Order: sequence, then structure tokens, then C-alpha cells
Amino acid sequence: MKLDVLLGLQWGDEGKGKIVDVLAPKYNVIARFQGGPNAGHTLEFNDIKHVLHTIPSGVFRPETINIIGNGVVIDPVIFMQEIEELQKINFDITHNLIISKRAHLILPSHRIIDAASEAAKGKTKIGSTLKGIGPTYMDKTGRNGLRIGDIINPEFKEKYDFLTNKHKELLKQYDFEYNLEKYEEEWFKGIELIKKFKLVESEHEVNNFLNGGKSILAEGAQGTLLDIDFGSYPFVTSSNTICAGACTGLGVAPNKIGNVIGIFKAYCTRVGSGPFPTELENDEGGILRSQGHEFGATTGRPRRCGWLDLPALKYAIMLNGVTELIVTKADVLTGFDTIQICTHYNFNGDEISYLPYEINQPLEPVYKEFKGWKEDISKINKYAELPQAFIEYLNYIESEVKIPIKIVSLGPNREQTIVR
Ligand code: GDP
Ligand code: IMO
Ligand code: MG
Repeated sequence: MKLDVLLGLQWGDEGKGKIVDVLAPKYNVIARFQGGPNAGHTLEFNDIKHVLHTIPSGVFRPETINIIGNGVVIDPVIFMQEIEELQKINFDITHNLIISKRAHLILPSHRIIDAASEAAKGKTKIGSTLKGIGPTYMDKTGRNGLRIGDIINPEFKEKYDFLTNKHKELLKQYDFEYNLEKYEEEWFKGIELIKKFKLVESEHEVNNFLNGGKSILAEGAQGTLLDIDFGSYPFVTSSNTICAGACTGLGVAPNKIGNVIGIFKAYCTRVGSGPFPTELENDEGGILRSQGHEFGATTGRPRRCGWLDLPALKYAIMLNGVTELIVTKADVLTGFDTIQICTHYNFNGDEISYLPYEINQPLEPVYKEFKGWKEDISKINKYAELPQAFIEYLNYIESEVKIPIKIVSLGPNREQTIVR
């Protein structure tokens, strides 16, 4: 068997959680491969609305095994809260969640460094979720980090103290007040909870599953334009969010990758700082935000909204080798007289059709206009019943990117999904 990958093609929040939950019954295993509690993946079914941060979005399907891979960074406090939230709605996942020993731990001091560093940046801040993601990945690549496998080591506390003391020295550079002790107590409780789960070498686990004929879906976090290498650097996250990240974040060889399912919103959003060529800082942007409930699932911050950006989408499709597309939140476009798609940018006097290295410099979008539709499409469950104007919008995207749109999502609920 090959491993399918589902990932975001924009700046995150494309609806990955919802779609993974929809697709989960087709797979034996759902695996997260990068990111950490900066992610907020929302799932809605029956009367339940739930946001997951570290835990894969297959947990609501009792038959599904969920893996937190080596590429993920884990905050034991947030992990514990997630488990408690699941227990409140009677989901005990101790038996169907396994965690890689190679996954790195977010320490309380990583979160503090994140906050101190962002505060010191002032206007140039990244707009981080302040979950300690950047400092944790820095310690990973700097070869200082603590991993899940360390927690069963009798010298774990010494290792923890050693790294925390190093961080305290670093924090002296910043004029930043903090209280570590308050958070530490919860953190060590979270560590004890993690010990109750099956801690594995997930690279073997994943490859054994594939060799044994089990199907796996890797669930991306963030989005391609937040990738550490190819995103709008430095306004990015600290991991490889692209398909290649699934190989390094799970221990799967590139020739084991099967379908690459790219998910995009019918428009664009971004939360945090950084360039956003098609951003609408006007009433239309406000309508997208209110109709789309565009507020961060992790931080509650209002998301910046704008029209679909085709050069950026093509770039994401190229980087990931996308084989099929899913479009979400098209229902949010209902009611607009006209809808725009950015086809090119004006950049330094030239019209260009690609996302350039200089994305942080002003890029003026060039738009193609489409007719809108007024009908409520959120309850439609057959593709052929969709308004013609919407079908034309989708046809145009397909003709430009040359990848089929296989699923159309028309609302937050599991049921509001059309599979073509
Ligand atoms: P993720 O991070 O990619 O999993 O996405 P988020 O959960 O952060 O944000 C997506 C938001 O849109 C959530 O509130 C979802 O419940 C919601 N959502 C997902 N798909 C749709 C859709 O097709 N239409 C509408 N209106 N909302 C959707
Ligand atoms: P999901 O998985 C949207 C953004 C932050 C910030 C930048 C760096 O829900 O799509 P970090 O906390 O990683 O240091 O933040 O990346 N960001 C996200 N934006 N969705 C996410 O995850 C994000 N995770 C991080 O807002 O701009
Ligand atoms: Mg999200």
C-alpha cells in the first residue's frame, strides 16, 4: 500500500480537520507528520463541534488508528487538555492513539522564549500562535531537544533542568517577565499522561502497516505558504508543511507516497503577519470574515480574508505534486454579485503569473471576474444541482491548474460534503 497525504495549499485553516474526518472511514490509520499545537483542526458532526491541536482528526472514528509522528512537536499540557476535552464527550482514545518516541517536546521555556522573541520583534513580529513551535524546532535542529522517548529515561528530570537552565540564560537577553513554575507542574502531569500511551518508533509502525496492506492518510498541519522553505519567509512556521514533510515526519520513503490531496478554500485567509497579495481590507473582506466565521481555531484572532490567488495555488500544487483537489467553504461566497480570482500579479512593471521570491514586496493582483450566485448551496448534496455560476467558477480553476476537484465542501458539518 501507499500512503496518501492530505495537506493545505494556502496559509492554513483550509478545513483539513473536517475533510480528514470525512475521509477517515476509507483509511485504517490517520497520521500527523509535522507542526504541533499551533494547528487547530475543527470537526463537526451530529451536535458536536470539536477542535483538535496535536491529535489526528481520525479520533472520532472508533476503528481508526491515529499516529503522532516524529515530525510533530508536542506540548504535554495542551495534549492533556485535548485528552480531557475528548473524555468530556466520552471518547477515550488511549487504545487508538500511538506516539512516536522521536517526536520533540515543547518545554514551558520554549513557550516563554516564543513570547519574549515575538515581543522583542515589535512591528516585525511573525504573529506566531505563541505555542513554542519555533524555539522547539530550533532546539531540534540545534540538537538540544528533548524527545518523547526521553520521558522514560531515569535521567529525564536532569535533562529537562539542563535545557531549561540554558533557556533561562537565553531569556536574560530579553526584558521579559515570566513565571515558569506555574506551567511546569501541569507540564509534568502531562508527561505522566503521555506515558500511558503506546510510545513507538513510528517509522517501523507506519511501514509495517503499509506492508501489511493497511491504508494510511497523513494529515498535514498549517499550509504550503507557511512552509519553512517555500512559504512567505520569515512569516512562516518552523516545519516543512509540504508533502515532503510527510516523508521526514513519518519515516516513509518518497516512492511510498500515493495520492496527494490538496485542500484549498474557495477564497483565501491568513492569520498572523506577512504578505497576502489578494487581501481585501474593505467591506468584501469583512463579509468573507463574518460569513466564513473566519476567526482562528487556536487563538481566536480574526483571520485576514481575500480572493482566491491562482499563482499561489499553482505554486502549492507544484511543490506538493497534488493529484486531486478539495475545495472548501464555497458556501461562504454565496450572495456576492461578482467574485474575483487573481490570475497574475503586477510586479515591478511586469505582469507575472508566478509567486516570486520577492513575495514580501508589493505585488498587485490582476483579477478575472466571475458571476456570483444567490442560492443557499449549503444543503445541496449533488454536484449537478449546484448553481451554474459556481460550476463555472470551479471549471475555470480546474482548467487552469489541470488537477481535478474531487470533493466540494459546503459547510462545516461532515454531511455538507459532495464527493464527485
Ligand atoms: P484546518 O486548520 O484546516 O482544519 O481548518 P480550521 O478548522 O482551522 O478552519 C476551518 C473552519 O471552517 C472551521 O471552523 C470549520 O468548521 C469550517 N469549515 C470547514 N469546511 C467548511 C465549509 O465547507 N464551509 C463552511 N462554511 N465552513 C467550513
Ligand atoms: P492549521 O493546522 C493558520 C501561522 C501563525 C503565524 C505563523 C507562525 O490550523 O491550519 P507558529 O505558531 O507556527 O510560530 O506561527 O503561522 N500558523 C497558522 N495559521 N493555521 C495554522 O494551523 C497555523 N499554524 C501556524 O498564525 O502567522
Ligand atoms: Mg486551523
